[in-house]
Amino acid sequence: MKIGILISGRGSNMQALVKAAAEPDYPAEVAVVISNRPDALGLEYARHVGLPAVTIDHKAYDSREAFERELDRVLRQYGTELICNAGFMRLLTAGFVDAWHDRQINIHPSLLPAYKGLHSHERVLADGVKITGCSVHFVRTAMDAGPIIAQAAVPVLEGDEPGDLAARVLQAEHQLYPHALKLVAEGRARVRDEKVVIDGNDRAAPALFSPLIGARD
Ligand code: GRF
Repeated sequence: MKIGILISGRGSNMQALVKAAAEPDYPAEVAVVISNRPDALGLEYARHVGLPAVTIDHKAYDSREAFERELDRVLRQYGTELICNAGFMRLLTAGFVDAWHDRQINIHPSLLPAYKGLHSHERVLADGVKITGCSVHFVRTAMDAGPIIAQAAVPVLEGDEPGDLAARVLQAEHQLYPHALKLVAEGRARVRDEKVVIDGNDRAAPALFSPLIGARD
């Protein structure tokens, strides 16, 4: 399955997907990396490993729709079958989201549906929550909503600052995203009644994922 990865910045999740896709048996290949910001660090990595790395600067377009038309055109030009948002910081209109229905996924650094939006780690710490994590989900028009494909649990430790928690969750993100993409690319993660059902014999492992207790695969 050909994937197009959308980024806006550092691109560490994009790197995790690129590395996974380089494995011989992995069921997805990266067709293109697109950033809406010309200065996104991740673009350098993508170019370094020889991937098409395209900037579509949203500021150069009059409207969201005009920006998205170009985004859509470039994605299709590279044969994209599934979009992976990886730290992509633009809200997308219903027109774009609907055109890629069940063909666009996103990673968010919380256990959705809790702590949608920005600054999730700060809010987790303010609430005194003991377990947080990250989620990969199909994209819908509402922000950070949509059928959940897989989640990883990460503990909140005594004395954590937001940066400590972000770093711990990010490690889990780098394992969870390639795992979730694999499920989608293999056709094992299907949306039924707006929930994801995972095909396979193992009832628990595919979607319940805790890197810290080694529940991978
Ligand atoms: C990640 O925490 C991701 O979950 C969130 O934004 C951050 C992006 O980091 N949506 P990176 O650009 O992948 O390093």
